[in-house]
Amino acid sequence: GRPVLRDAYGRIARDLRVSLTDRCNLRCTYCMPAEGLDWLPTDVTLADDEVSRLIRIAVEILGIEEIRFTGGEPLLRRGLEKIIADAAALTTHRGGAPALSITTNGLGLDKRAAALKAAGLSRANVSLDTLDPERYATLARRDRFHDVIKGLEGAKAAGLGPIKVNTVLMRGVNEDDAAPLLLFCLQHGYELRFIEQMPLGPPHTWQRADMVGADEILRRLSERFELSQEPAPQGSAPAAVWQVVPGADHPAGNVGIIASVSRPFCGACDRTRLTADGQMRTCLFSRTETDLRTPLRDGASDLEIAELWAGAMAKKKPGHDIDDPTFIQPGRTMSAIGG
Ligand code: GTP
Ligand code: 5AD
Ligand code: SF4
Repeated sequence: GRPVLRDAYGRIARDLRVSLTDRCNLRCTYCMPAEGLDWLPTDVTLADDEVSRLIRIAVEILGIEEIRFTGGEPLLRRGLEKIIADAAALTTHRGGAPALSITTNGLGLDKRAAALKAAGLSRANVSLDTLDPERYATLARRDRFHDVIKGLEGAKAAGLGPIKVNTVLMRGVNEDDAAPLLLFCLQHGYELRFIEQMPLGPPHTWQRADMVGADEILRRLSERFELSQEPAPQGSAPAAVWQVVPGADHPAGNVGIIASVSRPFCGACDRTRLTADGQMRTCLFSRTETDLRTPLRDGASDLEIAELWAGAMAKKKPGHDIDDPTFIQPGRTMSAIGG
């Protein structure tokens, strides 16, 4: 029969995360070194029509239902609107178009949001780690705080939604931004999620003891907000989501925690990944990749590519091994993998 993205643990991938470029116009300390990286050369970077073809194979043959565009910074990809329009024209196995979303740093999103929406994008997740412009400039190594706020507002005005804000808290750097960020997001109708920092940035920069974990985040938020006792059932989503009870200065809303390290959610993972140079990954933390670009360029059929993809998926590991003493960080950093 038709190849499927099922692994040895019975997990089926229905969510594809596509990195459209490894480049970025910021240099967030937890993601990249100040000098940037050795960017992928253009000849190994998939062309727009190559990306669209792999997405079509994933949706029409392999049963992918949701596609998230990431980077680096996906808004730096010129063909983004076209790639989105191509994906929006596909029909999933369930019928209907795949759900399309983007994860972006928000720079320039105000100018692009309407066109992205028109192309078929439904929602956007925007990274923002602080409400203090100076602190933002230190963290992202670029003085662009106000551009992110404009990007968020533009996305809302264009009807992209629900809009989620992603925050990575770092000890001694921005822990005290947790409550102000939640207040800001509740007041503006954005759904805030805190992400535990993962060892995916510049090598040797991550220490478990420095990580601001889910328990500590909940404790901090509970000092200022009344949260539901338990998070909603999480399914295959990375975020556990709590309800926030309305208060004098804010309406009701939600807050999520993506506790990749302290409460791994690998058991319910439904994701597969594609890098900007056409390598398929089964996991953020994979130590191996499967080359789809070479067969694609050597004339492989759709079915042959789908079979390669499914074959690689069958070998997906049960989970990451961050807590294992033998853990080694993947060779690529976050921006080259595509968060
Ligand atoms: P939605 O909730 O559907 O909007 O998506 P999302 O939370 O998966 O998307 P987003 O791109 O905003 O990712 C938020 C964080 O979750 C990033 O830091 C990702 O690296 C992390 N994340 C996403 N998928 C995985 C995964 O499979 N494993 C781990 N450990 N982290 C993941
Ligand atoms: N650990 C956790 N999250 C990270 N991100 C980037 N690098 C890391 C890391 N080392 C986040 C970004 C973005 C999302 C895709 O991943 O802030 O919101
Ligand atoms: Fe760019 Fe995202 Fe990495 Fe920050 S985390 S440097 S916005 S790719």
